Amino acid sequence: MLIEIRDLTKVYDTGKVQVNALRGVDLAVDEGDFVAIMGPSGSGKTTFMNVLGCLDRPTDGSYSFEGRQVETLTDGELADIRNRRMGFVFQNYSLLQQATALHNVELPLLYGHAPNRRKRALEALERLGVAERAHHRPTELSGGQQQRVAIARAIVNEPSIILADEPTGNLDSKTGKEVMGLFCDLNAQGITIVIVTHDDHVAAYCRRLVDFLDGRIVSDNHGAGKCDTAAAGDAGHTPARGIPPQDEPYDDASTEGEVTGQ
Ligand SMILES: Nc1ncnc2c1ncn2[C@@H]1O[C@H](COP(=O)(O)OP(=O)(O)O)[C@@H](O)[C@H]1O
Ligand SMILES: [Mg+2]
Repeated sequence: MLIEIRDLTKVYDTGKVQVNALRGVDLAVDEGDFVAIMGPSGSGKTTFMNVLGCLDRPTDGSYSFEGRQVETLTDGELADIRNRRMGFVFQNYSLLQQATALHNVELPLLYGHAPNRRKRALEALERLGVAERAHHRPTELSGGQQQRVAIARAIVNEPSIILADEPTGNLDSKTGKEVMGLFCDLNAQGITIVIVTHDDHVAAYCRRLVDFLDGRIVSDNHGAGKCDTAAAGDAGHTPARGIPPQDEPYDDASTEGEVTGQ
C-alpha cells in the first residue's frame, strides 16, 4: 500500500471562525493507481492534496506514505519526501519565468544534490516530447509545452507518485487530452497518479473516482479508465529525440534510452 489515510481531519482556525475543511477522511491508494479527486468548490480537495503532498499537516488522523508514518516526521524529512518521492503538477504550471525549461527541470535535482543533473533533466524533457524546447523560457512556450515541462520537472527525480491539482484547467480540450495521454503513459510505467479535476472528460481517463463533499469522501468508484482502453495510444505527443549539446557538454544526447519509472 502506497498511501493509507485514517480519520483525517483538518481545521483552519482563522481567529473568528473555525473551518472544518476535512471531517474524517479514510483513503488507501495502491501503487500504480490512477485516482481522480472530484467534488464541488470548497469540498476540501486542495486541503486534502496539500496533506497528501506533505505540504500541510492535518489536525488529526494518521497518514502513512510508503510505510512511513508522516505525522512523526520532521519538516526536513517531509521536505525530503516531497523532493525525492513526489512530483507536483499545478494548473498554472508554476515554472520559474526567468529560467529555461532545462533549468526548471534541473531544480528538483539541484535541491536534492543529485548527480548528472543536466543529463537527467534532458532525459525527462525527451520523455515528455519537449527536448527541443530545452533552452527556451516559459514565455516562449505554449501552455501545453509549459505543462509538459512542468511534468518533466515532476518526474525527474523518479517519484513514486504525481499529485496534480487541475493540471488541464488552463488548457484547451485538445491539449488537455494530450496531457492526459502523457499521464496515461507515466501511469503505465508504474507511477501512481492522483489528480484533482472538476472535468468529467479528464476524470474519464482515471481508474478510480473519489468524490468529496463537505470535507468527506461520499463515493469511491473503481473501474477501467480511458487510459486502460484505446486513449493512451491516442496521446499523439512527439516522440523523444536527442538535441545537440549547447553551452555545457552533454555526452549522451543521441541515446534512445528512457528513464524507467518504478
Ligand atoms: N488557508 C485557509 N484558511 C481558512 N480556510 C480555508 C483555507 N484553505 C481552505 N479553507 C476553507 O476550507 C474549505 C475547503 O477548501 P479547499 O480545500 O480549498 O476546497 P476545494 O479545493 O475543494 O475547493 C473551504 O471552506 C475553504 O474556504
Ligand atoms: Mg481547490
